[in-house]
Amino acid sequence: MSDDIIPVSPEWAKRAYVDEAKYKEMYEASVKDPVKFWGEHGKRIDWIKPYSPEAVRDVDYTGNVRIRWFHDGALNVSANCIDRHLAKRADQVAIIWEGDDPSKSKNITYRELHAEVSRMANVLKELGAKKGDRITIYLPMIPEAAYAMLACARIGAIHSVVFGGFSPDSLANRILDCDSEIVVTADEGLRGGKPVPLKANCDEALKKCPKVKKVLVVQHTAGKVGWDGARDVWWHDAKAKVAADCKPEPMGAEDPLFILYTSGSTGKPKGVLHTSGGYLVFASMTHQYVFDYHDGDIYWCTADVGWVTGHSYILYGPLANGATTLMFEGVPNYPNSSRFWDVIDKHQVNIFYTAPTAIRALMREGEAPVKKASRKSLRLLGSVGEPINPEAWLWYYRVVGDSRCPIVDTWWQTETGGILITPLPGATKLKPGSATQPFFGVTPVMVDADGKELEGACTGNLCLINSWPGQMRTVYGDHQRFIDTYFRTYPGKYFTGDGARRDEDGYYWITGRVDDVINVSGHRIGTAEVESALVAHAKVAEAAVVGFPHDIKGQGIYAYVTLNAGEPYSEALRKELVAWVRKEIGPIASPDIVQWAPGLPKTRSGKIMRRILRKIAENDFSNLGDTSTLADPGVVDDLVKNRSH
Ligand code: WT7
Repeated sequence: MSDDIIPVSPEWAKRAYVDEAKYKEMYEASVKDPVKFWGEHGKRIDWIKPYSPEAVRDVDYTGNVRIRWFHDGALNVSANCIDRHLAKRADQVAIIWEGDDPSKSKNITYRELHAEVSRMANVLKELGAKKGDRITIYLPMIPEAAYAMLACARIGAIHSVVFGGFSPDSLANRILDCDSEIVVTADEGLRGGKPVPLKANCDEALKKCPKVKKVLVVQHTAGKVGWDGARDVWWHDAKAKVAADCKPEPMGAEDPLFILYTSGSTGKPKGVLHTSGGYLVFASMTHQYVFDYHDGDIYWCTADVGWVTGHSYILYGPLANGATTLMFEGVPNYPNSSRFWDVIDKHQVNIFYTAPTAIRALMREGEAPVKKASRKSLRLLGSVGEPINPEAWLWYYRVVGDSRCPIVDTWWQTETGGILITPLPGATKLKPGSATQPFFGVTPVMVDADGKELEGACTGNLCLINSWPGQMRTVYGDHQRFIDTYFRTYPGKYFTGDGARRDEDGYYWITGRVDDVINVSGHRIGTAEVESALVAHAKVAEAAVVGFPHDIKGQGIYAYVTLNAGEPYSEALRKELVAWVRKEIGPIASPDIVQWAPGLPKTRSGKIMRRILRKIAENDFSNLGDTSTLADPGVVDDLVKNRSH
């Protein structure tokens, strides 16, 4: 925790949309009469058919759980992100693309974006795509990823973007879960100078997905790829044969826009479903206010489009606002650790939004790589994905921002569609490490383990009452799982899965997940997924996975593994298991530590006591709690004795 308080600079209070008084006024109005508030702000986007006042909000967090916003309105998300800007800003740059290779970048104007998205939409239609179909997108960070997402939105298809770092198996599971018949991919991605074999991964995945009829392939690196002439289609061939305009399909406000898979505490990843109207209103409004986005600003979010941050704050929010959004293919330390700051100078970036893990990694390289760049264009910094420790916050503020750029530490989730707890740069005094205050319409409540609501300064579990338009609507194909995951623990409330502290000023300090989800470099990994990958290995009898504090990643993955009887433990096998998980799920799920566990601490009813495993992983042996209820208490001594490293 930190005692620093950084006041709002007078200059910011003057130029920003919202100062402190205005924040209070708007916030109060938003919670007092949400229908009136959102009824007004819903008009920020273009509607083909306006919603009626009665349809602004229809929400019930009890029973079967129903969440609808603006439900009798009709719109098209792609038209909102492109067509409606053409009259005023056809020649303005919509997307600045910066390649992995620093010599490669290009600008795409709104006019060009219109043509490319229309072509992609027409190609998808020719491949058989219809309104309501699910289309899986497995692409690197290239403009075609934006074209593909917006093309789906244009024709009313539902996109499911799968992060390019996921394995063939993870891709296959996601394709199967949402029943996609079309996949869009590229020959290869490029990260830090190294190719990522996307088409080959896709070919491997599709062995398990017989219903996929067409694969649209973008040529990016011109690397060699396998080819199925009946199934695979080159984007550059197909686009030459279609028109450069395509009428946007009118969509109901509650028609699905996208599915995005995310890990939970149990079972396979859930397909988080977001719909059209409310999502776009919320993504665009948060983008405008949180980043204080004004016409002409150059805005850069370093996330990958494979995550929700990329959906809401590279694509939909900024483009709905007619912004110039930068899309970066590369990594922070290639060709060297000045890359972020060089890109900021090269494209004169004003607003920069990244993750604490990147900040911590760059902080380790010292100030010199930062100071080599001018960074004069910067006005605002943002953080997202995990708690930012005050030390990293202060480095970001002092070294990167030269103590003149406010930091917005934005707390939200895949499920929330957009930012919920955050400073507003002209309104909120900052406390390093705190996500500060709720956005308009958002009402956080703190509850204890029994669900009792806590008042004032407290520590507890973070819930939300009152819906906001960007909230997820269901788990794709499994509404019961939606209810059970989010609305059952504390009936009548949305449970975030996060723990938090609220201080005496009403500021929120998110402490991290309280469920069996690990946040590795801002990416959610379910312990259950890693465990099931491990036990799928022929030599593994049992596995238990927990998170542990990691200097750069925030949390690392710690796996306790029991081998089959008689199987010898070896260093080679340890490495093999790490590689195995990497192959099964993807590099982001590779365990940092594998500890051999002749036995796991279990209750007499066979439940693994993760609390104890977490303590051992944290090297905190003083506080193992009561182990007398264990079936075999001796197991714990053994694990403590063999704690690796
Ligand atoms: C989880 C959601 C939101 C987009 C990226 C991650 C953690 C996110 C913060 C923050 C502390 C944060 C929470 C949350 N988280 N932002 N500013 N401070 N924690 O989306 O993969 O759905 O993960 O990330 O634990 O529940 P996600």
